[in-house]
Formats: sequence, structure tokens, C-alpha cells
Amino acid sequence: MTSTPRSPPLAYSKALVLTVLFAAGAFYLAAELVSAVVRDRSAEPGWRTALLMLHLTVTLPILFLPPFQFSRRLRARFPAWHRRAGQLFLGGSLVAASTALPLAMTQEGEGRGVPTGVFAVLWFGFAAAAWWCARRRAFVLHEQFVARTYAVAVAFIIIRLLRDTQEWLLPFITMIEVRDVTRDWLCFVLPLFAVEIAFAWWPALRQAAAKRPG
Ligand code: HEM
Repeated sequence: MTSTPRSPPLAYSKALVLTVLFAAGAFYLAAELVSAVVRDRSAEPGWRTALLMLHLTVTLPILFLPPFQFSRRLRARFPAWHRRAGQLFLGGSLVAASTALPLAMTQEGEGRGVPTGVFAVLWFGFAAAAWWCARRRAFVLHEQFVARTYAVAVAFIIIRLLRDTQEWLLPFITMIEVRDVTRDWLCFVLPLFAVEIAFAWWPALRQAAAKRPG
């Protein structure tokens, strides 16, 4: 892939964002793993427990591989590793998205299945598009679709950050159910906006800024 060199501040911000996400992911996942093991599941149908366990298993690498996959230096030095890890990430994302849809449809809480279901379908679509672009050797598009796939996965972290700060961030929404659904939408939409700003909206505005007023 031919790639344009990034300015040092941009490269540092990318590294910082990925490091913070990696650390926050590890922190929240540790708590979730404990709860997944010790929780009483007697009221849960067996098929749902099995699906949750499959979901949990395939999402583990998905959360931790991208910081290494997005490093241009590592990609150039270890191309075979990048390929294998990429297959693991995208294959895992396809399975995780397939498990997320039925889980979303049977989730507790009025209206909560709508954002989770919509983004489960998008998650699958982004991962499939990233895989297809790599096969077609369209590597710039491939990287962008991997970033979108990761942005959906990052909802796992954002939703927990919002849950821990919602009293302070959303005090004007007093109904708990409305707050929960708002939080569910935001956790997907915010990281996807960030990706679109970086890949599409900001470059488009810079291009327009470079033109002379007519
Ligand atoms: C890589 C990031 C992700 C990780 C690490 C992760 C992990 C988990 C964990 C630990 C659980 C609870 C398992 C249990 O019952 O103990 C869970 C449940 C669930 N996840 Fe994920 N997940 C991720 C991404 C996603 C995404 C992006 C979606 C939707 C598009 C999603 C949809 C769901 C749903 C619907 C449930 C069931 C919630 C409920 O029944 O209340 N997950 N996930």
C-alpha cells in the first residue's frame, strides 16, 4: 500500500487514543469477565448463555488487536503477522456481530434492542467490507473499514464510560429508561462520528480550504 506520511502530532494523537482505548478496554473487560463467571444464570435460557459465552470469547481479541494493526511501522515490519491478526480480527468481528443481533433482540429494557440491533448489522457489514477490500487489494478503503469495525466494537468501552458518568453528563434526562436508550445510541454514534471526521469530513474541508475563493 502506498501511504501518505502523517505529521508527528497526528501520529502521536493516534497512538494516544489507541493506548487509552487499550487500557480502558482491559479495565472494563476484567470486571466483565468476573461478572460473567460468578453471575447467577438460572433465569437465563441455555441458548442465551451459550451465545453470550461465544460472544465473549470472540470479542476478546477484537478489543486488543487493533492498536497493533493500525501501526504502520508494525505492518511494514511484520506483514505476515498483520495478515494473520487481521483475519482473526475480522473473522472474530463477523462471528461477534452475528451473536450480537439475537442477543440485542432479546435484551431487557424497552427500546434498547434498536440501537444494538442496528449496529450489530452495521458491524457485520463493516467487517465484511474490510475483508472484501483487502481481497481486492484496495488497502486504503480496507483500513477505513477496519477503523469503522473497531469503532463499533469500542462501544463496549464507551457505554461503560457513559454509564459511570451519566449522572454528570446527562442530568437533564431524568427518566432512567430514556437515559439508558440515549446512552446506547451515543456509545455507537460517537466513535463512528470520530472515524468519519478523520477519514471523510475533515479531509474534504481541507480540500475545500485549499481552493481559491472564486
Ligand atoms: C469487542 C467489544 C465487545 C466486548 C469485549 C463485549 C463483551 C460483552 C460481555 C462481557 C457481555 C456480557 C456477557 C455476560 O452475560 O456475562 C456482552 C453482552 C452483550 N453484548 Fe457485547 N461485547 C463487545 C461488543 C459488542 C457490540 C459492538 C455489540 C452490539 C453491536 C454487543 C452486543 C451485546 C449484547 C446485545 C449483549 C447482551 C446484553 C444483555 O443481555 O443485557 N457487544 N458483551
